[in-house]
Amino acid sequence: MLQFKFNGLLHRISNPDPHQTLYEWIREQSSAKGTHRMCGEGGCGACVVAIRTHSQIEQRLCTKAVNSCLFPLMAAEGCHVITTEGIGNSRLGFHVTQERLADSNGIQCGFCSPGFVMSAYSLLAENPRPSKQTTEDNFIGHLCRCTGYRPILDAWKSFSDTSEGVIDVEDCQKLPCLNDKAEYLPSVASVCTRNSVWYNPATVDECLHLMSKHGYASVRLVAGNTGTGVYKDLPRPFSYVSLQFVSELHFIEDDISGGLTVGSAVTLNQLKSALETSKGGKEKFKQLARHIEMIAGVPVRNRATWAGGLVLANKWGFTSDVLIIMLAAGAHLVIRDETGCQTCDLESFLQLDVSKKIIISMTIPYEKTGERYCSFKIMPRHGNSLAHVNAAFNWIPSETKSSCSAGEDFPLTSEINLFYGGLSKHPFRPKRTESYLKGKCFLRTEVFKNSLACLEEEISDQPGSAFKKRLALSLFYKFYLFVLRDKVSSKRLLSASQSIPRPISHGSEYDKFEEHPSKFPLTKPMPNVSAKLQASGGAEYVDDIPAYPNEVHGAFIISTQANATIKKLDFSNVLSQPGVLRVVTKDDIPSNGVNNWRWDPWAPEPVFADGEVGYAGQPLALVIADTQSRADWAARKAQVLYESKGKPILTIDEAIEKNELFCNVPDVEFGEGNPEEVLGASECILEGEVRAGEQRAFYMETQRSLAIPVEDGLDVYCSTQSPTTCQKAAAKVLGLKNNSINVFVRRLGGGFGGKDYYASFMAAASALAAHVMERPVRIVLDLESDMQIFGGRPSSLLRYRVGFTREGRLTCVLQTVYLDSGITRNGNVGYMYWAFDNAYFCPYWRVKRFACKTNTPSNTTIRGPSYVDGTYFMECIIETVANYLGKSSDEIRPLNFYKKGQMTPANLPVTYCSIEKIWKDLAQSSDYKKRKIEVQNFNEQNRWKKRGLSAVPLKYGIAIYPGWRFSVHVAVYAEDGSIAITTGGIEMGQGLHIKVMQVAASTLGLEDVSLIKIKPTSVMTAPNNSSTSASLGSEINCAAVLDCCRQLNQKLEVVREKLGRDATWPEIAKEALKMDIDLSAKAWAGRSGDTIFCYFVYGAACTEVEIDVLTGEREILRTDIIQDCGQSMNPYIDVGQVRGAFVMGLGYWLLEDIKRDPETGQLLTKNTWGYHPPGPKDIPVDFRVEFLRDAPNPLGVLGSKATGEPSICMSCSAVFAIAQALSSARAEVEESRVISLHGPVTVERVQELASVKTEQLFI
Ligand SMILES: Cc1cc2nc3c(=O)[nH]c(=O)nc-3n(C[C@H](O)[C@H](O)[C@H](O)COP(=O)(O)OP(=O)(O)OC[C@H]3O[C@@H](n4cnc5c(N)ncnc54)[C@H](O)[C@@H]3O)c2cc1C
Ligand code: FES
Ligand code: FES
Repeated sequence: MLQFKFNGLLHRISNPDPHQTLYEWIREQSSAKGTHRMCGEGGCGACVVAIRTHSQIEQRLCTKAVNSCLFPLMAAEGCHVITTEGIGNSRLGFHVTQERLADSNGIQCGFCSPGFVMSAYSLLAENPRPSKQTTEDNFIGHLCRCTGYRPILDAWKSFSDTSEGVIDVEDCQKLPCLNDKAEYLPSVASVCTRNSVWYNPATVDECLHLMSKHGYASVRLVAGNTGTGVYKDLPRPFSYVSLQFVSELHFIEDDISGGLTVGSAVTLNQLKSALETSKGGKEKFKQLARHIEMIAGVPVRNRATWAGGLVLANKWGFTSDVLIIMLAAGAHLVIRDETGCQTCDLESFLQLDVSKKIIISMTIPYEKTGERYCSFKIMPRHGNSLAHVNAAFNWIPSETKSSCSAGEDFPLTSEINLFYGGLSKHPFRPKRTESYLKGKCFLRTEVFKNSLACLEEEISDQPGSAFKKRLALSLFYKFYLFVLRDKVSSKRLLSASQSIPRPISHGSEYDKFEEHPSKFPLTKPMPNVSAKLQASGGAEYVDDIPAYPNEVHGAFIISTQANATIKKLDFSNVLSQPGVLRVVTKDDIPSNGVNNWRWDPWAPEPVFADGEVGYAGQPLALVIADTQSRADWAARKAQVLYESKGKPILTIDEAIEKNELFCNVPDVEFGEGNPEEVLGASECILEGEVRAGEQRAFYMETQRSLAIPVEDGLDVYCSTQSPTTCQKAAAKVLGLKNNSINVFVRRLGGGFGGKDYYASFMAAASALAAHVMERPVRIVLDLESDMQIFGGRPSSLLRYRVGFTREGRLTCVLQTVYLDSGITRNGNVGYMYWAFDNAYFCPYWRVKRFACKTNTPSNTTIRGPSYVDGTYFMECIIETVANYLGKSSDEIRPLNFYKKGQMTPANLPVTYCSIEKIWKDLAQSSDYKKRKIEVQNFNEQNRWKKRGLSAVPLKYGIAIYPGWRFSVHVAVYAEDGSIAITTGGIEMGQGLHIKVMQVAASTLGLEDVSLIKIKPTSVMTAPNNSSTSASLGSEINCAAVLDCCRQLNQKLEVVREKLGRDATWPEIAKEALKMDIDLSAKAWAGRSGDTIFCYFVYGAACTEVEIDVLTGEREILRTDIIQDCGQSMNPYIDVGQVRGAFVMGLGYWLLEDIKRDPETGQLLTKNTWGYHPPGPKDIPVDFRVEFLRDAPNPLGVLGSKATGEPSICMSCSAVFAIAQALSSARAEVEESRVISLHGPVTVERVQELASVKTEQLFI
């Protein structure tokens, strides 16, 4: 029997499944929809819940945030599990944390929100008035793809504000039963089920006995269980032995044998607190604590034990931070097995076979007099990621001082420890360097040079990459200077030993936008309409639709090899897994259907590979099982025999070399004459090449679809931006008429373009499976499948030649752009657009566009498709021109800005242009000139840290294709005047619904939006609608609702006349029905002409960065954006879009690197371990957004402009700022400037380009 409380109610479960996670159990409760799963590996925070339990360390009831996807259900014994619906909801009232997040505009798609709420709740339950720093640090383990984090962090930091009284979040709970704080005592029983056993022993002896009784190989000791997030595919054991109630392992002692001793069940967060408060630790312990803070996020550290981390390192060579920092700190362990106790240092521990042993404790020696300890962790992003390289160093002085004049005052080295992780499977200790340094004086130049040379030699034998080896040397140098402190030869060098400070972030206090109270609710800043529901778990996503009777679940079997023939598909191993019912294959497609989910005019793409696989990740079949986790597990068990058709083509260069090109995009030609002649006639000519990488949509809600057989065909609930194409795809595959497929969409947990075309595949596959099974089938993709099956933003390559005058005016731009389309030409969609000119006029353009065929998934349109790289490419050309002329690019840019009346290469007149004004305003508001000088001064004063400040302009063409249409239906209920609206547009966090409500309310003359509700979209109410994409969904749906409301107003004129001016809206509605007036209206809005562009959005952004020249780490110090948003319908929503898009762009340019296995083509960056979207500390420290004033858009709906995409293009300002910082670093060693960088500009790339050679290091 398992006992615990869930949201206030005691649960007794008689036959629980020891393999089940808490997340899986919570999702079975129909009352709890707010706990979401994205990664299933502890990396995103979507599944965070609060656990209230008695802590054996703190000796009190504690409330801690944990990742429910890693928390075993069995570990809930004796706990109180609290989810967001437990603390507040729409019936009883929302909790203060839910309200604060919603009101701060911190919720867009809302999929991440309950996780953030529960982390905030747990933080505040423990510490009602946390400092701003503690608050900001608390959310490192959470990801949000929509908001750019600024409003989320602001929401939580408002609790640090001392002007309000302290809020007791536990007192604010809306469920009375939750306030029962009485301690709940666990039963500590063992639980046995058919497939496995879970033991809760009370002593180490019992543990050892159980291990030997069941056989060591079939037992897993369980501490925090977070190791299952790292190694997900380990076989499930027969017996689990939990250390949760073994009190011998839960202790901290700070006064024995000269050190801090901690039991092995002590979590990383408990260890961190103990180090911070230890009596004898001083600086060394503080550094250990700081380093622990860099491990994962708070929810993981609340569960993860230090001992578990050491075992992962011992068994599987995990790059453990605990291991490295404790090795250098001189810690030792006490370990037990059946033969007794043993003490060992950590190096000896790594040699042990731990499978029969239990770690009991670790003792960390106190700091000795003069000891200098430091550690480093170089990560791909700020926190929540594993180290590229981690290192810890310790120096202990002898009492003897150097006798040479150089080092007279400096003690000789008595002991030294140097440890590195990340270079090889096990930690690397350069012993020759250590022994050389012993007895030597650090102050002597030759000691430094010799030790560096010795280390370089030792490192060269290690297996790591050149980047990691350079890092290792840089870190040693940093440590060396750290030991010397102020004894270094120049103050400029001290910049090496300090890390770039990251102050508490801010910026929204500087946001500037207009409101027009006379037009309210239009132009009023309002949060998303269902924000509070989303925060409290009341908002429904596809996976929250209650289970249908007889429902089953699907998971794709995907290929592990690209470019191969399938010789054999063997499902026997899949079918023998528990819960598996069937495998659906291409042979199950009805005879009148087709194995092709694409519709005209796209190239065909099979639902399941037919004989051949183009890319690794391509779906081969669909496993159907009784639960999603069983289907996911079984899908990995298929045995597939491939015969390679040759090495896969994975890059643009390989495709060009093999002439694998789809040439289906016509050239752009603008201007008079022959390109060669025009170019040849230019005063100056340059040529070059720039590259940009791939990006995944990385929506927090992975792709999912639920199909249910119904009497007239199939109901399909799909997370899609495009219900119409889902309908087409499902009907086509099944050979049914379109009216047999009823697609419904309420909201998406993020889309960003990734759920445009691809969701149709999901709809088709789920519909096929439901048809075959004759049962409802739900498919919820796990993150790894999602990342492997679908493509994203294509990588691209620009080759250009540019002609210009000596003054710097463009005369001719010839561009050839290649993009990686993937396995079909369908991935080419991006370059249908015309984004290559950005804000610059040139009398002559020719742009050739090639889509390359590679063995990767078809790519697709991700936020700002082709604009993001197109803008950057043009800015690189401008930078190159400026560099050639020896001028600043800030001078060249305005020289070429478009002016009113000029023509763009798309042959469109620029009828309105605010770029010059924005550019000047930005220079002023960002203090550009002054800060340029400050940057220069900083760079002169610091050798190893450099700064850059760069501004880029933007002209973004809002494109809409002929035939792009949305329909909206407005129904007014005569009884009370309430209004229901259905739109063809999909709400995915971009605020489409609230804007539609605002337009409807203000057009109908309502004071606010409270009488209006938006209903789910369906292909019955919105047939033949376009996909909600390209930023324009909100605007066109607003245009349609405007039309509907105007029609209604016209019909209601007679009623208003009859009732007089003072009649209320409900009175008007009631009277209208009496007068036999149809209180509904429908409109169909969009574009029927043949011009692609509606209007342009202008903007400019300026970004300042600092880089660490030695490691490649970056900090974005400040970003200022000014954007022309016309007259914003809702400034809250629009600021949110501008910030969110900009931060997604920062991810694209600086963090999100895609890697594949060159032989198999398999995606290596398929989960949160390998793929790194920005986290809360990757955003600019100071982040300001301003909207251009007095700029209503005559071509937009009610004066507005689209905001969903444009600002993503301005994120490249960070890349140019990094290029400047790098140029300054390279100038120190007379290396050439860096003009344009190939994206993504990762830590690795920055470090490589900083071009630091060993011989340049000096003390
Ligand atoms: C999202 C995420 C991010 C992470 N980031 C980092 C990071 O940046 N740096 C880093 O160093 N680590 C990181 N980790 C790893 C983390 O530190 C380990 O998962 C954690 O320390 C394991 O502890 P646990 O208590 O959860 O162990 P468990 O998962 O319970 O166990 C892990 C292994 O240790 C064994 N074990 C546990 N306790 C004992 C014991 N007392 N005696 C013998 N065997 C034992 C178990 O049987 C199992 O084999 C991350 C983990 C996650 C999930
Ligand atoms: S789903 Fe649990 S942390 Fe991502
Ligand atoms: S609001 Fe955070 S992921 Fe969408």
